[in-house]
Amino acid sequence: MAVPPSTYPCHLLPLFLAFFQGALLLFFALFVTYDKPSAEDTILVANQVYSTFPFFQDIQVMLMVGLGLLLTFLPRYGFSALTHNFLLLNFSMQWIHLDLHKLLISEFAAVTVLISMGAILGRVSPCQLLVMATREIPIYLTSEWVIVTCLGVLDVGGTITIHVFSCYFGLGVSKALFRATQKPLHPKETPTPSSDLMSLVGTLILWVFWPSFVAVLCQPGDAQHRAILNTLLAMSASAITTVVASSLLERDDKLSLGHLQNGSLAGGVAIGVVADMALPPVAALALGSLSAMVCILGFRFLTPLLGRKLRLLDQCGIHNLHGLPGIQGAAASVLAVLVASKDTSGSQPSQLSPARGNASEVLEGLQRGPTLFTLVQQ
Ligand SMILES: *[C@@H]1O[C@H](CO)[C@@H](O)[C@H](O)[C@H]1NC(C)=O
Repeated sequence: MAVPPSTYPCHLLPLFLAFFQGALLLFFALFVTYDKPSAEDTILVANQVYSTFPFFQDIQVMLMVGLGLLLTFLPRYGFSALTHNFLLLNFSMQWIHLDLHKLLISEFAAVTVLISMGAILGRVSPCQLLVMATREIPIYLTSEWVIVTCLGVLDVGGTITIHVFSCYFGLGVSKALFRATQKPLHPKETPTPSSDLMSLVGTLILWVFWPSFVAVLCQPGDAQHRAILNTLLAMSASAITTVVASSLLERDDKLSLGHLQNGSLAGGVAIGVVADMALPPVAALALGSLSAMVCILGFRFLTPLLGRKLRLLDQCGIHNLHGLPGIQGAAASVLAVLVASKDTSGSQPSQLSPARGNASEVLEGLQRGPTLFTLVQQ
């Protein structure tokens, strides 16, 4: 455990969790039932299940296994990382719990907590993590609503709503918890070859399933297809670029494992916001390469600088993987919209993105039911 036993009140975790689960039980008993579907709803629901469940499974593997393994790089913290990851996911997901789409939304909410955890990994207790989750989830849902529903930002892959948000939330938590004290790195915080191996397997799992994460909320068909291809292109480009950039920057030409892990995912973070737009494929490649470069440069120069100047603890370097590429993706989407509105003056900007399958729209669509179905059929 991260906190020595003397300062860790006993039974706090089981009590906290029992209270949470008990309260939820009561809430479900009083308020939650399944809807009674009408005849046309049955077809709609069947279609949604067949199209969504495979994506959903991919995302489950990403979060439970991929992210879990990724966090095992602290050698003596592997079991805690995997189990805390599992616990936090379960804790964060049960809040919103009615159908597959809402479950997806709740996974997206949970993932923000897991990303933020990267900043303070190994230095906090499970209870502190749970407290962070109880604060972060409502704030995430509010910010998502403001960004997507009020401001009308297109962000299928959650680049801004998930990655940028959770990065700065996590860094804020880190700053608040470790304001004055900057403890030097504990020997146990240095990865060993076997812990690095586990962590690398985690990265590869994330890499493989990432297109599902970006594409799941897109409109099925063209937009979804484009989102999958663009994500793959961006992530391939960022993997190759990482090897180039890292080898050039490191002394004795050696590729750094941390760079490879982060850099090859950076493309996936950046592309999320433009993935389903009708971009030329070269834009996806370029964005992937650029984001990998920014990520590696961040690790090399910005992280040490922030550590020195702001005394900021960022254990996994989430600022380089989620913050910087996320901002870059947002800038790319602004560019894409500007270019598109210049090219096709007269046609609506929605041309660029025929399918805005963002979270709230899907939710609205589901509430409207048949409307979503007719949209899919068109
Ligand atoms: C990024 O690199 C850091 C430091 O090497 C590592 O701890 C972390 O697990 C990496 N993140 C990912 C997503 O691979």
